[in-house]
Amino acid sequence: MRLIYVAGKGGVGKSVCSAATGIWTADSGKETLAFSMDPAHSLSDIFDVEIGSHPRKIREHLFAYEPDLEEEARGFYHRYKNILTALFGLFEVEVDPKDFGHMPGVTELIFMDKLNDIYVEKKYDFVVIDSAPTAMVLPLLQLPSITTSFVTRVLGMRNKWIGVLNLLESGFGDSILKEIRAMRVKAETMRNALIDPKTASITVVTIPEKAAVEESRRLIETVEAHGVYVDSIVINHVIKECTCSFCQRKIASQTTYIRDLQRRYAGKHIAVLPDYGGEVKGDGLRQVAEDLYGKQQLVI
Ligand SMILES: Nc1ncnc2c1ncn2[C@@H]1O[C@H](COP(=O)(O)OP(=O)(O)O)[C@@H](O)[C@H]1O
Ligand SMILES: [Mg+2]
Repeated sequence: MRLIYVAGKGGVGKSVCSAATGIWTADSGKETLAFSMDPAHSLSDIFDVEIGSHPRKIREHLFAYEPDLEEEARGFYHRYKNILTALFGLFEVEVDPKDFGHMPGVTELIFMDKLNDIYVEKKYDFVVIDSAPTAMVLPLLQLPSITTSFVTRVLGMRNKWIGVLNLLESGFGDSILKEIRAMRVKAETMRNALIDPKTASITVVTIPEKAAVEESRRLIETVEAHGVYVDSIVINHVIKECTCSFCQRKIASQTTYIRDLQRRYAGKHIAVLPDYGGEVKGDGLRQVAEDLYGKQQLVI
């Protein structure tokens, strides 16, 4: 199974590129899942089909999945209810499971859990991850060390506290340990998958404008500092062939940023996608897939 993680700033074309990638691998006969990790799902709009909260087959070899965060939050809460009860109890916070999914950092945990389920199930040849603008990949990478230090601490307190917790309610302390271990195993499995170039690759989508190029540079730097290699960059919304003075100025400025990216990331695959002059969805995705992979700007 291969994971293709599509990251980048908001609005640059991540979902379009994810959907086009899914179409390309599916059309080459590979079982593919397009998995939305952006709470503001947009794959159904882009594929122009209803998707829903369970993986749904939308064409030959292609499944799409937009997890319902509230539903998943309830499932997650149930899975880890002992540890969550203990944690929130410790800080004297009362949490309604239905609000839980909206707490900071929890979305990442829930998606990590979901991605892990998909990853260990090994049902697909490719999983294309359409990520949230905030580059959720970072929390995914940091989770194992967070959970590891947490587990170490809890294990350190084990003798002192687990017995007490067990006294409060028989088996409570042991259940907490079991849940923490399960959470850590999942986080580690996903980190190991993401840092293995045979399993995962990251594609950063950007546009040839200062703010987007700068944000991409920071994203690539941080992700690579965590040991995950970004192998492809898509420069989207590139204006081609227009003689009006507005476009001429824009083309000149875009060219500077494109050259800059090509120079800085000479070792990576860099694809340039034109501005298609309107929303890209449904059948329009084939053209994007052709431009990215058919023309071998990117390879899978
Ligand atoms: N190359 C392009 N040409 C024209 N419109 C595009 C192009 N790429 C993306 N779009 C449009 O831009 C909008 C944002 O794209 P989307 O993929 O949803 O961005 P993101 O997922 O990064 O927020 C969508 O309406 C999409 O149809
Ligand atoms: Mg999107």
